[in-house]
Amino acid sequence: MKKFIAIIAAALVCLGARADEGMWLLPLLEQINGKALADAGCRLTPDEIYSINHSSLKDAIVHFGGGCTGEIISRDGLLVTNHHCGYSSIQGLSTSEHNYLMDGYWAMTRADEIPCPNLTVTFLISMEDVTDRLAGLEDPNPVRRELRKAAEEANPGCHAQITSFYNDNVYYLIVYKTYDDIRFVGAPPASVGKFGGETDNWMWPRHTGDFSMFRVYMAPDGSPEAYSESNVPLAAERHLKVSLKGVQKGDYTMILGYPGRTQRFQTAAQLQQMIEVQRIAIDARTIRQEIMWEAMCADPQVQLKYANKYASSANGWKKWQGEELAFGKLGIIDREIEKEAAFMKWVGKKKTRKEQYGDALDRIAACVQASDEARKAMTLLMEAPWRIELVGILSAMSNYNRRTPGASAKTALEAIKGVYRDYVPELDRKEAAALLKFYRERALERDYLNDLGGGFDNFASIDIDAYVNYLFTNSDFVDPKYIGDALDDDPDAIFNDPVTRLYASIYNVYRTRLAEYNEAIEDLDAALKAYTAGLMEWQKKQPSYPDANSTMRLTYGHVLPYNPKDAVRYSYFTTLDGVMQKEDPTNPEFIVPAGLRALWEAKDFGQYADGADGKVHTCFLTNNDITGGNSGSPVLDADGNLIGLAFDGNWESMSSDVMFEPDLQRCICVDIRYVLFLVDKLGGASHLIKELDFAE
Ligand code: ARG
Repeated sequence: MKKFIAIIAAALVCLGARADEGMWLLPLLEQINGKALADAGCRLTPDEIYSINHSSLKDAIVHFGGGCTGEIISRDGLLVTNHHCGYSSIQGLSTSEHNYLMDGYWAMTRADEIPCPNLTVTFLISMEDVTDRLAGLEDPNPVRRELRKAAEEANPGCHAQITSFYNDNVYYLIVYKTYDDIRFVGAPPASVGKFGGETDNWMWPRHTGDFSMFRVYMAPDGSPEAYSESNVPLAAERHLKVSLKGVQKGDYTMILGYPGRTQRFQTAAQLQQMIEVQRIAIDARTIRQEIMWEAMCADPQVQLKYANKYASSANGWKKWQGEELAFGKLGIIDREIEKEAAFMKWVGKKKTRKEQYGDALDRIAACVQASDEARKAMTLLMEAPWRIELVGILSAMSNYNRRTPGASAKTALEAIKGVYRDYVPELDRKEAAALLKFYRERALERDYLNDLGGGFDNFASIDIDAYVNYLFTNSDFVDPKYIGDALDDDPDAIFNDPVTRLYASIYNVYRTRLAEYNEAIEDLDAALKAYTAGLMEWQKKQPSYPDANSTMRLTYGHVLPYNPKDAVRYSYFTTLDGVMQKEDPTNPEFIVPAGLRALWEAKDFGQYADGADGKVHTCFLTNNDITGGNSGSPVLDADGNLIGLAFDGNWESMSSDVMFEPDLQRCICVDIRYVLFLVDKLGGASHLIKELDFAE
């Protein structure tokens, strides 16, 4: 009998011992993953990874700029993240004279480290489950406020928030500390940091040196402080050690970071709608990106101004296309429907379950259906007319006014003036015409943008080219100088400007649709909460993790190759040889800097070559479970040493936010040895290498 029980127990543990899928919550590591972590090869205890009582690995990991992950790699607050995470900051610091984005940059002294306006770095202090404290309260807000206040008093200089998990079934009180004097230390040229561009994005084999470096600064007394000359480099409580050993197939790897959003608890109805909504965005972005790309290729100044706008548009655009394809190939919706049927069968077996969860799926489907038209109309608006940059400028001004009641139009203009730095009216004019035509083709008539001024009243029949011509000729917003003068003469000028008419027309449609949408989904949160609670009960014997929500998670797994399709096997690493094979001087995405080619030809690899083959390994694959937001996350070995940076997912499993695919899904990482080779040999910044601690 005893033996029988032991076998059952072992079976249960095996069920949960899978080291691949899962974005695990740090406070539950010991309880849920303790044994599996060790079985997978981890040599750290959960307490060494996450502790609120003493220094632990998590103290070296930061939320970078709100949308990425970074890690501290020296006692002086040196930070490494992806190139694409530093991209907008680097672009913002670049001019055609000092083009750090295209040419790269390395600060040779601390004084050369450049402050990045509006960039923040946030440390996680602690997380505490407060679900019980909030349960059953008619109005939870007073308790929420109290909890936050107490946490902030106990942790001076920190801020606390309460975050929902499992669709409002679990709540954590999370304490963070944010620094906002962040300085740019260096990055390789974009031809290395973004090698392969959009063509290679989301794909393997990959050869991108996707990293950049920053430094966190603090006030001399140690507190977070806005930029000031008297600030000093962060005295880091914890920093990662670097390992130059490289990876082998089957090696244990773990990643700590801030995955943004996943949809692993969504229903088939929701997923179907998601794919349809994304298709609208893909189509609109195809049009806009073509126009941007042409102008960027024709003029390096335009290229610099639009580099970030283009990259962020194209990243989602390509992801959604891959997701659509993967949904079809992997039968995602059908598998979801099967899962729901199995769930309903389980629900049907007990009266209490039927009461609690019996109608949840139908209620969700009803919300999806009722909200469908409004949701798509809003997406079309946001991806087409709202993307006219002139409209964006006015929208930013009006948002500023909403946030700052009583501010004059002039103050608002001053506040948003920075956007003009990267604005090319001629390009926007082309975009405007194309986007409005696209909108008219796709929109329902009730969503038409009527009364645009200048006699352009009936959207169904206006000549869009003539209208755009009228808009750009007559709007003072095309140039901040004009709008400044116009506002000097007449503070009400803003109301008579043609772009205000366009904005108002867009906004009216949006407001109407938003109200419809909100009404249609009134029951959605409650239904999702019930469905998720049902799933949790159904699968309570298996270890579980909530959807990603920009909170810190751990994923653990191994270095692994994969078979993308019949008869094709992908190796788990790439080398500098592959960079040279991809080189194409006629294609801006595949230019190899002369300095890199020279190092490769001379085999001048220093300590960064692989011990086995003598090559510089550029990227490698693991089966860790990540998503957007994990970008820049440290890839750690079994002892917690830094071996790479996670930066992408692979094309064959682009449905991964919805379902994990053990055989196909891989995390694409840049090898830390390639990173340091680029810093040291290509960048000549050996002083930074001296700042690091290496694992023996
Ligand atoms: N696909 C990467 C991610 O979402 C971003 C890569 C950025 N590079 C690019 N070529 N747009 O994390």
